[in-house]
Amino acid sequence: MKTRLLSPTDAHLDLCAEALERGELVAIPTETVYGLAANAFNEEACRNIFAVKGRPLGDPLILHLAENYSVTEIARETDLFNRLRKVFWPGPVTFVLEKSPRIAPLLTAGLSSVAIRCPAHPVTKGLLRRCPFPVAAPSANPFGYISPTTAQHVEASLGGKLPYILDGGSAEVGLESTILDVRDPHKIRILRYGSIDLTTLQKTAGDVTLELPRERPHEDPADNSPREAPGTLWRHYSPRKPLHLFATRKQLEEILPTPKKYSFLFHTRPSEDFFSGETNAQTTFHWLSENGDQEEMGRNLYACLRTLDASSSDEIWAETIPPGPLSKALNDRLVRAAAK
Ligand code: TXA
Ligand code: MG
Repeated sequence: MKTRLLSPTDAHLDLCAEALERGELVAIPTETVYGLAANAFNEEACRNIFAVKGRPLGDPLILHLAENYSVTEIARETDLFNRLRKVFWPGPVTFVLEKSPRIAPLLTAGLSSVAIRCPAHPVTKGLLRRCPFPVAAPSANPFGYISPTTAQHVEASLGGKLPYILDGGSAEVGLESTILDVRDPHKIRILRYGSIDLTTLQKTAGDVTLELPRERPHEDPADNSPREAPGTLWRHYSPRKPLHLFATRKQLEEILPTPKKYSFLFHTRPSEDFFSGETNAQTTFHWLSENGDQEEMGRNLYACLRTLDASSSDEIWAETIPPGPLSKALNDRLVRAAAK
């Protein structure tokens, strides 16, 4: 199949809306990462999402909605949900609610709940306004691989497997949405860390308790306890090359003397004297941010990992992120990407 990369003109948005309506797949830009979209009311189209990504059927999809879409069509609204959506939608937050019978079990992996999100990207807002149905979309990467933050990333790994990629530029946030299970009126369960500020979340939630994700769920293959978010396998977002983490630059002194070709990924640009030490000519250095800005790190993380995965180095060594506004989400992605 030939994949067309489309600029976000009105004519192309019409074309993509019609393709979705017919049951075709379209890769769409969002402020978090690109999504692989299908008409959520077309089960065959959604089945194709799983096939194209190589995604297990046990991993449910997120439904993307236009701002004025009536949520009651697809899920049971709760007071807590309505309070939070006023603050966080459109934006990088996904809510888990009880699903309505209208949603096919295929989409939710048989769960009674459904995950929904109203994205803020102007191009996809324009597309969703043209769609009289919700749009199911997981991240547009092969299952387990690094998420895409540009149309070119989607083309590189899924080109030939879908007809259209809508180009909305580089994702502004670069990290997947925060997932909040808001079915219980007394408790918000954070299923996945994202870019939203948890202090603002707690303020908006009032006296409702925030339950944080488990540190490392399902580590033990013999552990049969129910999954937090089904499909949240521990290894995820991973390059094909071995990825290792380090916490302090001091550790590099032990790692550096090696004949191997290493790529080092720092969170922040090291000072000039760092480079004056002796290094192996094969070693390359990269950084996520010039001066420690964690939003910049979020925007750059996946693009950097993809570049390093495509480079000639044998291994990637990435520095973990110091405490800050996005450190939980960034370290979550790094630790999972490095998991064996
Ligand atoms: O930012 C995002 O959320 C991006 C963009 C494209 O919107 N989407 C995304 O989708 O990250 P995906 O499929 O790569 O990750 C969705 C996660 C999966 O871990 C899935 O298991 C979980 O959401 N999920 C979906 N439905 C769920 C449900 N009903 N209950 C709990 N977790 C759910
Ligand atoms: Mg994903």
